This record gives sequence, C-alpha cells and structure tokens, in this order.
Amino acid sequence: MIHGGDIYTEGVFKGKKLLDYSSNINPLGIPKVFLKNIKEALENMIVYPDIQYRNLIKYIKEYIGCENVDVLLGNGASELIDLSISLFKSILIIVPSYGEYEIDAKRWNCRIEFSYLSSQMEIDYDDIMNKMGKVDSIIIGNPNNPNGGVIDKKKFQPILDFCEKNDKVIILDETFIEFTGKNEFSFMDKIEKYKSIFIIKAMTKFFAMPGIRFGYGITKNSSIVDGIKNRQNPWNINCFAEIAAKYCLSDLDYINESVVLVNREIQFMTEELKKIYFIEKVFPTCANFVLCKVRNVNEQQVYDYCINRGIIIRKAGNFKGLDKNFIRFAIKDRISNEKLLTVLRHFQRNSYPVC
Ligand SMILES: Cc1ncc(COP(=O)(O)O)c(C=O)c1O
Repeated sequence: MIHGGDIYTEGVFKGKKLLDYSSNINPLGIPKVFLKNIKEALENMIVYPDIQYRNLIKYIKEYIGCENVDVLLGNGASELIDLSISLFKSILIIVPSYGEYEIDAKRWNCRIEFSYLSSQMEIDYDDIMNKMGKVDSIIIGNPNNPNGGVIDKKKFQPILDFCEKNDKVIILDETFIEFTGKNEFSFMDKIEKYKSIFIIKAMTKFFAMPGIRFGYGITKNSSIVDGIKNRQNPWNINCFAEIAAKYCLSDLDYINESVVLVNREIQFMTEELKKIYFIEKVFPTCANFVLCKVRNVNEQQVYDYCINRGIIIRKAGNFKGLDKNFIRFAIKDRISNEKLLTVLRHFQRNSYPVC
C-alpha cells in the first residue's frame, strides 16, 4: 500500500468501521461553517465555475496574506505536485518522503537524485547543496511526511540562494504547514523575493477535506505558472471546493482550535509512545502524525494487532530509506489517541510480559 487512508480493503468492504490512524487529517473534522453554507455550492452546481476562478483566488490570497503572487489551482495538492515535477528534466527528492514525488518523476521520465535524511530524520543540507548542481529542481516536504520535521530555514538559505542564482526550482510541499501553528516555519515570507520557490498547499489535511480534492500552488515564477496551466484542463476545481475556501479559510476559531488541539496531542502522544517498550524511537514531529521505529517486532505485526482491534495504522516500510521497523500514527483527538495507546499497550504486554 503506497498511501494511508485505505479504510476500504480491511474496513468498508468487510463491513467494519475502522479508526483511521493511517491518514493524517485534522481531528476536528470538517469545519462546521462549511456544512452551514453547503447549500450555496448546491445552488452553484447548475452553472460552470468561473473559468478563471477569480473569487477562489481572491480567498486564497487573503488567507496567505499575499497579493502580489500567482496562484495555481489543483485537484488536490497531488495534481500540482505531479504537474510541477513534469516541467523538469531532473529533480532531487529528499527521502523518506511522500511516495508520489518519485512516482510522478518516473512518470515524466524526470531523472532522479535522492538525498537521504539521517537516521535521526534530519535533513543533510550539505548533501543537498552538493547535489543541486546536477539537477534542475528539488522537492521537499515542509513539514515532511512521514517524520513531520520542518526545514531549518537558516541552514537552507545557501541552497535557496544557489537555486535563485542558477534558475533551479524549489518545490516546497507545505500541505501540513498549518498544523505547526508557526508561520515562520513556512517559506511564504520568501515567496515574493525568490522566483525559484513554488509552494504547494491544500485544504486536504488541515481543513479535513480529502474528499473535496483542492490544492493550490503559489509562486512568482511565470514559467512554472505557464507550464502548469498549459497542462491543466479547464474547470478542474468544483463548486464545493470554492465554497469550502470561501468560508473555511477565514474561520479563525477553527484554525486556532486545531493548532491548540494538535499541538497538545503531539506532546501527549510523543510522551506516551516513548513509554512503550517495543517502540524504540519516537521521532520529533511538528505535524499531525508521528513516525516510530520499533524493535523486536515488525510493522506487519503491529499492523495486524491493531487492525484486528479496529484500528488501521500506516506501515512505513515502503517509504524509501525506511524498512519494516517503521510505523506512522496519525495524531487525533484525546479519546481516539487513548484507544490507540490502549491497543499498543496490550500488544506490548502480550509481546513482552515482563517489561
Ligand atoms: C506530503 C503530502 N503531500 C501531498 C499529499 C496529497 O494531498 P492531496 O490529497 O491534497 O492531493 C499528501 C497525502 O498524503 C502528502 O502526505
């Protein structure tokens, strides 16, 4: 399984409801303001959306607090990841990371170089710098999936300067950035100055709407804008996404509550997971998921134990650079987190009765 979120194979199609710890969606769920205004989208269904999406782009610019940029729209972040990668002959991919980066690059015959995170899941900035001369572009998650680490902007600055000077493009996948609650982690503050930057975001994760399939890209680089637009179909965004953006992006209560909840639960989960013996390492995270390394058991054993108790987790062994000793958990609300921890503690007791 390349992705999390498959509640179907072991759940829906077997008549079971699973607690999904394999995909990383805001535990607060769909903002209520969207449900309150969904009728507006239903009324709009009878007409084509504005082919230029002028209002939608206005809502996004207001949300990101930046007027003087180009905004591209995608059917999920995935469409923009795919189309931006399609523009290049070669790309540096930081791994382990979201598997689609490599799949997309291969689809477009884009030559791939890899830069591996260290065993502590830290970015090797020197390695990136050394490899940038050999590629046209780089893609990096900020925060990165599966570990939830963010880029150290100071250490990244020489890479940014090099890319800017040498016409290379930096694709920053910031689909999880809001969960950090810290604007300064984002590269949005550099977007107007550096045309080498292309930031991809989405309503998928933070606004808990994977089903609406809405992502957007931000840049000052007209070649990226033209290149992607040339490859897109008209009306690729539906009227529900437009209404979601209209109401949810300005819902400050939801935004603030989400950040508080997720950051409280990151701390709780990290502390509790560290107490479980078969979990050798809990990697520090800034996002709503946590990567763990296990010992004396493998991903499949933990997965099977959890799935038999109604919880689906993410086996992380198929992330490039990881192996079968890695698992990833979403971070959800306290009640769900307690349920997961109870199952993991039982697994520990069964596996290690004396610990
Ligand atoms: C890092 C990262 N980027 C992008 C995506 C895809 O987002 P979307 O569903 O908006 O296409 C995912 C999905 O898991 C992801 O983990």
